[in-house]
Amino acid sequence: MATAVATDSYAELKARTKAAGQQQVLEDWDALTPEEQAALASEVKDLDFGFIRSALTASLASAGAAGEGAKPVAGVVQLGAGGATDEERRGWRDLGLRLVAEGKVAVLLLAGGQGTRLGSKLPKGCYDIGLPSHKSLFQLQAERLLALQRLAAQAGGGQGKALQWFIMTSPFTHADTVAHFEAGGYFGLDKAQVTFFQQGFLPCMTEEGQIIMETSSKVAKAPDGNGGLYRALHVSGALAAMQAAGVEALDVYCVDNSLARLGDPEFVGCCYARGTQVGARVLAKAHPEEKVGVFAATPEGRLQVLEYSELDPAKASSIDPATGQLYFNWSNICMHYFSIDWLAATVKALSGPGAAYHIARKAIPSKGGSKTPGVKLEMFIFDPFATADKTTLFEVAREDHFGPVKNAPGSDTDSPDTARALLLAQGARWAAAAGAKVAQDSAGLEVPALVSYAGEGLEGLVGGLEVAAPGPWLLGADGRLDA
Ligand code: UD1
Repeated sequence: MATAVATDSYAELKARTKAAGQQQVLEDWDALTPEEQAALASEVKDLDFGFIRSALTASLASAGAAGEGAKPVAGVVQLGAGGATDEERRGWRDLGLRLVAEGKVAVLLLAGGQGTRLGSKLPKGCYDIGLPSHKSLFQLQAERLLALQRLAAQAGGGQGKALQWFIMTSPFTHADTVAHFEAGGYFGLDKAQVTFFQQGFLPCMTEEGQIIMETSSKVAKAPDGNGGLYRALHVSGALAAMQAAGVEALDVYCVDNSLARLGDPEFVGCCYARGTQVGARVLAKAHPEEKVGVFAATPEGRLQVLEYSELDPAKASSIDPATGQLYFNWSNICMHYFSIDWLAATVKALSGPGAAYHIARKAIPSKGGSKTPGVKLEMFIFDPFATADKTTLFEVAREDHFGPVKNAPGSDTDSPDTARALLLAQGARWAAAAGAKVAQDSAGLEVPALVSYAGEGLEGLVGGLEVAAPGPWLLGADGRLDA
């Protein structure tokens, strides 16, 4: 047999697949070219058959349990009237900035998703939502991180550590993501403060546990969901790196929120001050059918998130007579806080056998151009939230914190167009609050994060400025407007 794979290695692979009852993976071996054999051998070597089998068994056993007996959550930290005082909020913000300056907080971006709904071949973070600057989502986020780092250093009298940014990619997004950062010179960040690590994937299987082949030499596989974070933090060594650097808390967010105020010091400070293990920014749901997950309590009173697909429409629209709000009112915008200690315990629990995943039943593209009925396994980042004893849900203002980019351009919800309009309206609001005259029919203003992270420091720059129609405008660091 002419092969690039040594005969004894092949014999070993054959024995392993046979012992695992997965012989079909190698059944076309003799018909493959040496290159195909080498590629397949390398894929099969990486498959942990014991883990895969136990994951499927645990997932099938727990399927359908989501949401049974769910109750509304209580005790959301509310801002504004009747909620936290301005003094409390200032205290949290100061604490958050101090934690950033001392290197006790790191930021983590979930960027392993494929963005199929958006219709882009590149990772979502590379997307240009059409702002005057034409910055990609990744660049907008990089500049916010840098702006926060500078604010924290200023608050610390000029001293501050570099804010560490961990970026989780997947085999589908990794190369393009890294290339985008390289091409953009890391957008002003120090390359050393950015760590890329990859989430894993799991093979697609039949319900009986047979691994499906996409071609004769390629296993059909899918990313293991944004909850793949926990296992990836362990496998990549990223968690160990955070612990070694003295990081105590992690702010985690998803790539497709154009308004993501990553590292938000007010939220981080509040969570830290309360000894929080798992925290989340939440919003009142816009309407009962809004396609977002909602926070709920399990029958035992522990925190959970129910995806919109898991909540039946009658429950989703029922009103709590005591508050006049929806029973399941608090939306998940995928902006989370984890204490490193909780994270370390969770990573340990979810990295071994027995972890349960959500099962998606799909027709899997397979060998010979056919489709095989099978399952994909995905973990959601919020799956282990019920293990946390100390949780904080923190209400934020929708118009400042949630600009989702999910659907293709032209869609009237959660599209690049709606996200762009939200960002430009936010800039116009900030400018007006700082003394600018904004024309009613102006398309708004892009305020770069390096000019202002959250609306602060604009008075000297835009007081008396005219933001005319039509726009939109881009505010320069010198206070000048560009179209
Ligand atoms: C997610 C939330 C949903 C919330 C909504 C708000 C989850 C599971 N669901 O839904 O409750 O209301 O955001 O916008 O969190 N990702 C990976 N690896 C993967 C899959 C996804 O890193 O394998 C990342 C994506 O790149 C993205 C984030 O996770 O940054 C959210 O994933 P996505 O699958 O788009 O979730 P949504 O359906 O938008």
